[in-house]
Amino acid sequence: AQMVIVGAIASAIGIALALVIDWFPADAAKQAGPIDTLYDVLMIVSVPVFVLVTTVVLYCAWEFRMRPGQEQQDGPPIHGNTRLEVIWTAVPAIMLVALCSYAYAVLRDIEEKHPDTLVVNVSAQQFAWRYSYPQEGGRPVNSTMLVLPKDRPVLFKVRAEDVIHDFWVPAFRVKIDAVPGITTEVRATPTRTGRYPVVCAELCGLGHAVMRSTAWVVTPASFDRWLARQGQPTVNAGGGGESGRGGADLAAVGRDTFIASCGSCHTLADAGTSGAAGPDLTTALRGQSEADIREDIVDPDARVEEGYEAGVMPANFSETLSAEQIDGLVSYLTSVSR
Ligand code: CUA
Repeated sequence: AQMVIVGAIASAIGIALALVIDWFPADAAKQAGPIDTLYDVLMIVSVPVFVLVTTVVLYCAWEFRMRPGQEQQDGPPIHGNTRLEVIWTAVPAIMLVALCSYAYAVLRDIEEKHPDTLVVNVSAQQFAWRYSYPQEGGRPVNSTMLVLPKDRPVLFKVRAEDVIHDFWVPAFRVKIDAVPGITTEVRATPTRTGRYPVVCAELCGLGHAVMRSTAWVVTPASFDRWLARQGQPTVNAGGGGESGRGGADLAAVGRDTFIASCGSCHTLADAGTSGAAGPDLTTALRGQSEADIREDIVDPDARVEEGYEAGVMPANFSETLSAEQIDGLVSYLTSVSR
């Protein structure tokens, strides 16, 4: 009887902790509600089971211990108990089937296909996220920001360029591995405007902890405006009458490239970036020659800043950039190194 009372109190405390304390981050997608409820139900069912099993184990270990002076011997033989065995097989079986059916229903619900789904390609690479919006009848829009319209279903198609990463937006409750060679998919329908963290949830190298990005959920009208703006080239191609691109234009390409491709790992005051995986370029660039800066970009391990390790910046980083972007970066970083 004492055991039952202790067990009941422990269960009640466990369930109360699970339900009263708000363990979840803000929810910002249609999928969040059903997933949180599923979590709560699993908690309510599993806490009493855990407490029951633990209480019986502790009770038996204490009550049937070998006492001082007692001779070591086997306990009295037991020849089965049909009633008990039927109960402890049937009850867990029924519970598991019920929970599995419920979980399956939730999964089917959150993975449901909708017409008018927005497809966003997510690309993971040490140590940054890139997004691409394949537009119907237009060229795809590439972005380092994840911008999403409120209340429209989104299908994320996730790819990895190098090693395994994991695309996770805690506020949407969705999470999917990014595996080289295959495209994985996950769906979410943002329901609340705001900024939400995107996190890499698979250890992928030295910069794993800083492999973060932001999901911006905006109104459909602002989303359309943003998408239209992204479709335009950031720099005017060639001025009237001028041949080629001026140094200022090249530096502007470099600055855009820096913010998009380097800022998640490097702090640079001029570009307004605050990455922390690599050296702070606001100070590290001072007095560097143009040749040194180019070498740092195309062969990152040739010279490694004191206090940092080789291999954190991917050796093939520059392969993700066009020749013009690299020239732009060199031009821009040289201009801010003075
Ligand atoms: Cu990418 Cu961890």
